[in-house]
Amino acid sequence: MTEPYSEKVIDHFTNPRNVGVVENPDAVGKVGNPICGDIMELSLRISDGVIKDAKFRTFGCAAAIATSSILTEMVIGKTIEQALKISNKIVTEALDGLPSRKRHCSVLAEESLQSAIVNYYERRGETPPDMPLLKHDHFNEHEEKLNPAE
Ligand code: FES
Repeated sequence: MTEPYSEKVIDHFTNPRNVGVVENPDAVGKVGNPICGDIMELSLRISDGVIKDAKFRTFGCAAAIATSSILTEMVIGKTIEQALKISNKIVTEALDGLPSRKRHCSVLAEESLQSAIVNYYERRGETPPDMPLLKHDHFNEHEEKLNPAE
C-alpha cells in the first residue's frame, strides 16, 4: 500500500509559506535533483549574520514544495551557523515524516540552504565554509528553468 503524506506535508503543499523571491536578497541558492529534474531556489535576507527573511520557488513534487515551505519557516530568525545545522532529516521530522519513496526530495531543501549560504559568502568576497552536499556550482545551472525566456 502507498504510504500517505502527513497532514503537515499536505498543509505546506496546499498552502505553501514564503513563496517568491526576497527583495534585494543577500543570498540566493539554486539546486536541482538530477534524477527527477525538480529544482529549488531559496533567497535570503541576512543582517548581522541573522536570516531575517527567506522565500522559495520550487518547480517540483509535493514533497519538494512542502520541504521548501517549512525550511523557510525554520531558517527565519536563525543565525547562519544555526541554519546550517538544519539537515534534511530535521526538515523531514518537522513535517512529521515523508513516505520512504519521497525522502530523497528533502535533500533539495538542505542543498538549497547550503547553496544560498555559499552565495552569501561569495557575494561578500569571503571564503564559504565547506558544504559537503554541494558537489559543484549549482548557481547558474537552473536559471533557464526558473526564469524562462519570455
Ligand atoms: Fe523530485 Fe521529489 S520527485 S524532488
